[in-house]
Amino acid sequence: MSHNTTEEIKIRRYRLPDHLSWFIEQQLDKIGFSLATPKSLAQTILHQSDFYIRHPYGETPWKEHWAQAAQLAYYFPLNWIRAQAILDRGEEVGFWNNLKSYLEFGSGLGPFTCQNRYFNKGLCIEPSLEAQSVARNLAHHFGITRPLTWNVRFEKTASIDVAVFSYILTELPQLPPWIYEVKSLVFAEPSTQDDGRRLMNLRERLIKDGYYPYAPCVHSNTCPLLIESKKDWCHDRVLFDAPPWWLEMEEYLPMKNRTVTFSYLLMKKEKPDLKKENMGRLVGDCLVEKGKTRQMVCRSSRREFLSWLHKEAEKFELPRGEMVSIPEDEIRKGTEIRIRKSPKLGLS
Ligand SMILES: C[S@@+](CC[C@H](N)C(=O)[O-])C[C@H]1O[C@@H](n2cnc3c(N)ncnc32)[C@H](O)[C@@H]1O
Repeated sequence: MSHNTTEEIKIRRYRLPDHLSWFIEQQLDKIGFSLATPKSLAQTILHQSDFYIRHPYGETPWKEHWAQAAQLAYYFPLNWIRAQAILDRGEEVGFWNNLKSYLEFGSGLGPFTCQNRYFNKGLCIEPSLEAQSVARNLAHHFGITRPLTWNVRFEKTASIDVAVFSYILTELPQLPPWIYEVKSLVFAEPSTQDDGRRLMNLRERLIKDGYYPYAPCVHSNTCPLLIESKKDWCHDRVLFDAPPWWLEMEEYLPMKNRTVTFSYLLMKKEKPDLKKENMGRLVGDCLVEKGKTRQMVCRSSRREFLSWLHKEAEKFELPRGEMVSIPEDEIRKGTEIRIRKSPKLGLS
């Protein structure tokens, strides 16, 4: 039986570079915090998290030092990792090809702006001048050389190739109407049931408006989780190799981030050119049951699982979030597509 190598079958793994930890420490020092006092940092994060729960549509209180500390030490690093993972997912399906100028809307500290890839021009819309100031330092620290502009609100400018909305929909009463003029759209949202399902509904609306999904969906049919489930929501997961200061900080937090989860959506007005037939995306974790493993796979409006019987198949794991080739001669058992060996991963 042919199998993927151990290296290939792992869920993608991300880490924070040491230089970012150093930068965060310098910035925290200016507002009276430090990575060396993890308990007080954790308190700022709990405070910020409570704020988001109590004010689901409230704006991040950037004027407060505690909020700046929480954003710097916790929310930005996580969203920077999510941005990398989303860039990687999009790269696999050619989403970023020819996208040169971008707009990061509600950019905060700029998790997408602080990525050294693809773009040659960036516009950040961020109402908070405090956030803008730290974001400029961060972009400089990451050695971003493309021309960058920060504005407090969006005004019609020269055309933009792609608009990015990262963790911002919860702070907006409604989507700005100009987005429909932008040919490519990127959304990253918390992987909660409410936010994930809202994004699934937004996908349906964008499809009606002439957009095609590039990722995570490999099809433009109605999302199977909208048709066949009232509670499931689509989300992705990557591994996070946290630095020691992060682990110390997490000891004072109820939430642990050995994996980083997110819901995301990449849409374009141009039809995707996925040359391979019978592709699906693994949208669930491996569910090990008695004698069998199942894993949700998405390729159409049906809610389906790849499944393999332990007595028939050699032991293997499939990494959540990746694309898979579903065997042409598939054997169906209800919602399950029974396989005996690890399917081929990725598009190549
Ligand atoms: C939860 S933060 C996310 C920041 C960043 N996008 C990220 O992924 O880390 C939401 C950001 O949206 C900004 N914001 C709130 N209302 C906005 C609006 N009407 N227009 C643009 N940005 C807004 C806030 O100031 C805040 O920085």
